[in-house]
Amino acid sequence: MANLEVDLSNIQPGQTVTVKWRGKPVFIRHRTAADIAAANEVDISKLRDPQPDSARTKDPNWLIVLGVCTHLGCVPLNNAGDYNAWFCPCHGSHYDSSGRIRKGPAPYNLEVPDYVFLDDGKVLVG
Ligand code: FES
Repeated sequence: MANLEVDLSNIQPGQTVTVKWRGKPVFIRHRTAADIAAANEVDISKLRDPQPDSARTKDPNWLIVLGVCTHLGCVPLNNAGDYNAWFCPCHGSHYDSSGRIRKGPAPYNLEVPDYVFLDDGKVLVG
C-alpha cells in the first residue's frame, strides 16, 4: 500500500514514534513547546541546509520526517544528540527538533515526506 494512515491521538507531547512506510522508517514527533521554541530560535543563515521550521511542518506540534540519515542512510536515534532530537550513531550526525542537520557529516536535513492531516486526528503519509 502506498499510503500509511497513523492515529496521532496516543502520541504524547515529547514522544516520537517510528512507523514504516515504503520500507523506510518515518519519525512522527509530537513536539513540546520547548522543541518548537528551539526550532525557531535558530539563525537560519548559519544552517548547512537552510530551512525555516515553518517550511518543514504543517502544524508546529508535529514533525514528520524520514528516519534515514542523509549521510549514508543509517537510522538516527530518537531523543539523542546535542539537540535532544536525533543522533546518528554511524558517524555522528546531530539533527535538531526540526530534523535539520546541525553537526556531523550529513549534508542535508532529514527529508520531509508528503503527508496530510485527516479530520479525525490521523495523518496520512504518502
Ligand atoms: Fe548517519 Fe553517517 S550515516 S552519520
